[in-house]
Amino acid sequence: MIMTLLFSFVSCNLSNLQEVVPLNHHYLVEDTTAHESGDDHDHFQAAYPSYFNMFEDGKFKGLIKETTDVLTLESVDLTPTSSVKKVNVKKYGAKGDGSNDDTEAFEKAWKAACSSKKGAVMVVPEDHNYLLKPIRFSGPCESKITLQILGTLEASDDRSDYEEDERQWLMFDGVDNLVVSGGGTINGNGKIWWKNSCKINEDLPCKGAPTAITFYECKNLVVKDLNIRDAQQMHTSFEKCVNVQAYNLSVTAPEKSPNTDGIHVTNTQNMQISDCVIGTGDDCISIVSGSKNVQVTDITCGPGHGISIGSLGARNSEAYVSGVTVKRAKLTGTTNGVRIKTWQGGSGYASNITFANIEMKDVYNPIIINQNYCDQDEPCKQQRKAVQVKNVLYKNIKGTSASSMAVKFDCSKAFPCQGVTLQDIDLTLEGEEEEKEAKAECNNVEVSNIGTVSPQCD
Ligand SMILES: *[C@@H]1O[C@H](CO)[C@@H](O)[C@H](O)[C@H]1NC(C)=O
Ligand SMILES: *[C@@H]1O[C@H](CO)[C@@H](O)[C@H](O)[C@H]1NC(C)=O
Repeated sequence: MIMTLLFSFVSCNLSNLQEVVPLNHHYLVEDTTAHESGDDHDHFQAAYPSYFNMFEDGKFKGLIKETTDVLTLESVDLTPTSSVKKVNVKKYGAKGDGSNDDTEAFEKAWKAACSSKKGAVMVVPEDHNYLLKPIRFSGPCESKITLQILGTLEASDDRSDYEEDERQWLMFDGVDNLVVSGGGTINGNGKIWWKNSCKINEDLPCKGAPTAITFYECKNLVVKDLNIRDAQQMHTSFEKCVNVQAYNLSVTAPEKSPNTDGIHVTNTQNMQISDCVIGTGDDCISIVSGSKNVQVTDITCGPGHGISIGSLGARNSEAYVSGVTVKRAKLTGTTNGVRIKTWQGGSGYASNITFANIEMKDVYNPIIINQNYCDQDEPCKQQRKAVQVKNVLYKNIKGTSASSMAVKFDCSKAFPCQGVTLQDIDLTLEGEEEEKEAKAECNNVEVSNIGTVSPQCD
């Protein structure tokens, strides 16, 4: 069958695809004079007026409309009239029997697809299991490219195969206009790595393990319709990418698998993550330094450590994260709900962050900012410097907390958290017969409450 590769855009055309403009948010402020005076959030609005104008849509309902124009990169359209090159890994010698090493066949197939001037679809057939060593899919390619994974990619579990680079299994490096999809499975086969993690066996030295799929410096990227499971360490990592859509991903690993973050985002701008179901042994989603304009919507998370910004500022580093929105998420049985974590001694900021319409069920720390994060063997020293946490809105967050402290703001003395707003919060203790109020612990933070907020900082 011949295939067509069609890229379609809601509001961008191909020429401005090269620009960095897929997520344009227009906030139409129709009236901002309707609010009552004397509310304790007024002075925060004065301090951060434009930021609050962006988000004050609950209390002054209907006054602000949000429209979002999003780039959609449609992948493959299977019409018979196409000139796109179809590259089936089978033709390049891949066996897909689960025991033969198919790495070389995949490398050859990638080369053929990537060098096609008319666009290419690299097909991984259904009902086969392709065993792969670490492999690098390098760009730039001659044209648009789709990797259509119908079957299963399975990682070699011989750790000596990873000697050259212990941090990567599947690596997409510098590939623009890439779609990875197909409904198939990516299996990191991580058991051997988990067993040898210092978090499981404390006698062993702490060493990194491979990320199952890394996207590095990819521009205009869509990753969708995939099952990703049992990664050696992180499942997916987006690094230095621009214009990314990740959606309809199912990411699973056992609750006890160490450091198996679902979706990790670093130094990446303009990203949408949506409609994902993630349950692993670490963060469902972690967004770290250099990331800007990241929209996360419709996420089901658990088990795992929740949705995290950070950690930031480790080893006195500089970190900048801004413009992160997490909307419509359901977290069940996670250790954290929505979390911002920074190490002491760092610098930079995490700012303009919204968590809205979130349901918590039996979550240990539903709302948490921790500026004293420390994830190392020795205790962390007290340090004066900190990554500034600023302009954080928590809105319409409901459900149950597994611990009595449903809200925990542990901010730095030298750099208190600024502009933190709680709006319409209703968190109760899980498992209590009559719904008991959970508590809030708030240190070095200025918090304003809007609507009904329970629990509240003292
Ligand atoms: C935060 O949002 C405000 C208002 O939109 C904007 O002026 C400011 O530059 C943003 N800060 C960062 C760090 O992006
Ligand atoms: C989501 O992905 C799965 C495969 O993982 C696929 O079967 C399903 O049809 C996709 N859903 C949508 C709405 O495309």
